[in-house]
Amino acid sequence: MKDQIRSISEEALKEASAVPADKDAVDALRIKYLGRKGIITELFKQMGSVPAEVRPEVGGLINTLKESVTRALDEKSALISTCLEEGEAVDVTLPGIPGRIGRIHPITKTINEINSLFISLGFRVLEGPEIETEHYNFEALNIPLEHPSRDAFDTFYVSFEKKALLRSHTSPVQARFMEKNKPPFAIVVPGRVFRPDATDASHSFMFHQVEGLVVGEGIKFSDLKGTLAAFAQAMFGAKARMRFRPSFFPFTEPSAEVDISCIVCSGKSREKRCSMCGGKGWLEIMGAGMVNPKVFEAVGYDPEKVTGFAFGMGVERIAILKYGITDIRLFFENDVRFLRQF
Ligand code: PHE
Repeated sequence: MKDQIRSISEEALKEASAVPADKDAVDALRIKYLGRKGIITELFKQMGSVPAEVRPEVGGLINTLKESVTRALDEKSALISTCLEEGEAVDVTLPGIPGRIGRIHPITKTINEINSLFISLGFRVLEGPEIETEHYNFEALNIPLEHPSRDAFDTFYVSFEKKALLRSHTSPVQARFMEKNKPPFAIVVPGRVFRPDATDASHSFMFHQVEGLVVGEGIKFSDLKGTLAAFAQAMFGAKARMRFRPSFFPFTEPSAEVDISCIVCSGKSREKRCSMCGGKGWLEIMGAGMVNPKVFEAVGYDPEKVTGFAFGMGVERIAILKYGITDIRLFFENDVRFLRQF
C-alpha cells in the first residue's frame, strides 16, 4: 500500500506540473485524483482493509498526498485566472494609468513670471549668495551697526567671527553688482531670504524676494512709478491700481511702500468684510525708492552723475494675492494636494 501511495504521488505531481494552464485540463486532473471516484478518494476507501497497527501511518501518507496534489492543482488554476480565456483579447488602445508628473512650484512659477515681465522691460536677471556678510547685508546699504533700522532686518547669524549671516533681504546683491559693473543697467534679482520670525499664517523664517535696481543718468522717480505700474498691471490685470505710501529705508531716499488695489474687493469696498484687505482696499506688495547717494558712494559711483531706483518685493505675498492663498505655510509643507493645483 505504501509503495502504491508513493507511485501515485509521483505520477500525480508529474501530471499536475505538466498539465497546460487550461481550465478543462486542470478540472479533468482534479476529477481523476480527487473526484468522488478519483484515485486518491479510492485510496481512502481502502483504508478499511489496512491492518490497524499501520492504519494511522497509511492514513497520514494519503492525507499528505491529497494535500500536495490539491496544492499543485490550485497553483495551476491560479495561473489560468491571470491568462485570457479563449476568444478574449486585450484592448491595447485603452488609456493606461498615467504616472504622476511633477509640477513647477507656485513660488518658482511666480518668480518665473516676474522675471519674464522684467525681461520684457529690458531688465537682466541674476542671483546672489544666500550666505552674506554683515558688510553687504547692512553697511554697504547704509545700515550702520547700531542703527535701529537694523532691527527691522532681524538676522540669522552663521558665524559671528566671520560676520557671516543668512541674508535678510535681496538688497545686498545691489552693492555686489554695482561694485563690479558700471551704469547704465537694469537688473532683477530673485532669491531666498531669511528672518528669525515665528511662523504663522503670514510669516515664515524663509521666504523669497525679487530685488530690482536701475541706475543711469537722469533716472527719475517717475521711471520707478511707470515701471512698477507696468508690472502691477501685467501681474494683476489692467484694472489693478497702485499707490505709493511714504516710508523709510536707509538705502533709498525718498522711500515708499507700494500697495495695489485689493484683488478681492477691487479697493471699492470700504467694508470690514473683505477677507483679503480687511476693508482697507489696498494690499502692500513691496518697498521701493530712489537709491540713496550714500549707497552709490560706497561702491564708487558719483552721485552727482548717476541716479537710480530700487525695489524689493515679497514673492510669497504676490503669489498669495494672485492665487488667493490664505496661509504662507502651504508653500513650504510640500503637500501634493496643494501643489497639484498649480
Ligand atoms: N530690502 C527691503 C526689504 O526687505 C525692500 C526694499 C528693496 C526697499 C529696495 C527699497 C528698495 O524690506
